[in-house]
Amino acid sequence: MSSHQQDHDASVHDVLPEDHVPDDPLTGHNYDGIEEFDNPLPGWWKWLFIATIVFAFPYLAFYHGGAPGRTLADSYDRALAANMELQFAEIGEVRADAENVVKFLGKPSWLAFGKTVFKSNCTSCHGEEGGGKVGPNLTDDYYKNVKKIGDFITVMENGAGAGAMPAWKNRLSTNEIVLVSSYVASLRNTNVAGGMAPLGQEIPPWPEPPEEEETPSDQDAGSGPDNGSEETTGSDEASADAESDDPAAADETSEPDKTTEASQ
Ligand code: HEC
Repeated sequence: MSSHQQDHDASVHDVLPEDHVPDDPLTGHNYDGIEEFDNPLPGWWKWLFIATIVFAFPYLAFYHGGAPGRTLADSYDRALAANMELQFAEIGEVRADAENVVKFLGKPSWLAFGKTVFKSNCTSCHGEEGGGKVGPNLTDDYYKNVKKIGDFITVMENGAGAGAMPAWKNRLSTNEIVLVSSYVASLRNTNVAGGMAPLGQEIPPWPEPPEEEETPSDQDAGSGPDNGSEETTGSDEASADAESDDPAAADETSEPDKTTEASQ
């Protein structure tokens, strides 16, 4: 009890060496010998703190009060839409047809866009790389609903397998449908590891995508084996034809094979 009393009487100057004790005013409070400096936070700091509390109420009401279009998710969607508009400004609203699916098959940066559509909508059923899960493998040479490249549009817009493959007409924009179709077409024969067993029939190869606009395609393309344009094509005629009239081009791709077979 007496030692306790002693502590009580001790001042801060008994505990700290003299030159370490600031000269600041004391509050006069004494807690078991511990004294309290009178050092309040600056007024501006306290007012800032109070202001944040006051600000919180209208903020809460504005953004979380249930008014439409004001949540973070809403503004994210708006930003996304604006960004997409910006990107699509370059190609405009493309027609959903075979010709455009072939055209974007030859444009890697737009295939990359199609890939983002695929990643956010299709991987749950077709696998991360398109190897198949609930939906079929899109990386082999076999197709169940697709006979020619334009059928991707039909399958995408209307779905397939009595709804097992959903219809995307009302969920994706026309541009997204075309670009994701091109991306899926580009997956053909990538044969990802761990892909599902093939389903359906083997179908003729896609028509070659046309060359970029700025290169007026060689008119004499068919004249020699070495016209220096696309190395991947087996038939040079197809690339020239694909520009004008797509379904015809698709048919003609298989023709050179027939003639070679016949002559052998
Ligand atoms: C809910 C699951 C599901 C989702 C999501 C889904 N698909 Fe499918 N998809 C299927 C099923 C199942 C089939 C097979 C339908 C059948 O049996 O005819 C299929 C078939 C297809 C086919 C035709 C394949 C063939 O062999 O002819 C294509 C192309 C395709 N899907 C692309 C896509 C794309 C692109 C997306 C994303 C925008 C997508 N799918 C999203 C389940 C799905």
